[in-house]
Amino acid sequence: MSDATPILHMLSPTKHASPFDVNMAADAGYKVIVPYTDVELGEVTGLVQDAIFSRPPQDGVRTGVFIGGKDALLALDMMKAAKEALVPPFQLSVFADPAGSFTTAAAMVACVEKVLKNKFNRDWNGTRVAIFGATGVVGFASSVISALEGAKVQLVAHRGIERCYKAAEISKERFGVDLEPVLGENDAQKNVIIANAEVIFCAAAAGVQVLSTANLQSATNLLVTADVNAVPPPGVEGMELFMNGDLLPGCRTTTGVGPLAIGDIKYKTESDLFKRMISASEPQHLDFRDAFHLARTLVA
Ligand SMILES: NC(=O)c1ccc[n+]([C@@H]2O[C@H](COP(=O)([O-])OP(=O)(O)OC[C@H]3O[C@@H](n4cnc5c(N)ncnc54)[C@H](OP(=O)(O)O)[C@@H]3O)[C@@H](O)[C@H]2O)c1
Repeated sequence: MSDATPILHMLSPTKHASPFDVNMAADAGYKVIVPYTDVELGEVTGLVQDAIFSRPPQDGVRTGVFIGGKDALLALDMMKAAKEALVPPFQLSVFADPAGSFTTAAAMVACVEKVLKNKFNRDWNGTRVAIFGATGVVGFASSVISALEGAKVQLVAHRGIERCYKAAEISKERFGVDLEPVLGENDAQKNVIIANAEVIFCAAAAGVQVLSTANLQSATNLLVTADVNAVPPPGVEGMELFMNGDLLPGCRTTTGVGPLAIGDIKYKTESDLFKRMISASEPQHLDFRDAFHLARTLVA
């Protein structure tokens, strides 16, 4: 195994690299961490090739590229460009997690999967999922992860449905999944969505209450509601931070999974993926699928 210094190059298409990810990478064991901001897709090849040719091939596994930003598809495109830039035997590892969304979505889907299995003896196959905050990065990644597992996913639009149609079209093209856009702009529309859903992922903006206890009275089939928003008020009224399969207040059958129960698994998933990159004997290329497979083992 190479004992070269672990170096992480953090590429972000946004103005700042995420301090959260810098801390996570340092705590996982990276000794040198360099942020590159405002990075364009077309610049990835040059940066990656600059990194690989400076170390002997056997030390390439100690070099990592982390792709951040705030756009899931751009992060996947940058990851693809980074992989295509490699010139064997010169290698490095790549991990994409824009705005922490891949590891957060992976953790949310894994936590809910555990409650579905343990409390309701159910899996994702055919399970009806509604996603609030579907146009965000966490909502997008959770829609694809759960649909790939066999769930029937609705993308809830809170202001115009066009962007949800676009997301559904792209997800079909890139991942082969069928996602259904639905309008959830007012209580009447939300209540119809809730009445149909068996699982709700609430991945809306921080500090925004999206579903009230009154909305949840429409739930007749709802088994689990998860909320990733840790900033008060909760995205789902009555959601507690560490709730993990307990009944939601005011509900007779609906259980809740709160943001810090999800956050705990998210944190461990991101940390363990960094550690995997540092200790691997072969270069790693990690996206939301790898995050989900790992999160599943962490909740078990
Ligand atoms: N628990 C954890 O470990 C963890 C980790 C990371 C992130 N988070 C949380 O995850 C959530 C999503 O993060 P993100 O990065 O995906 O955010 P994002 O990309 O900004 O997406 C936010 C989503 O919320 C929607 N939204 C905004 N206001 C709304 C409203 N009034 N009703 C319904 N939907 C509304 C947005 O719709 P528009 O596109 O129309 O604006 C968008 O779909 C945030 O609450 C964040 O704090 C939690």
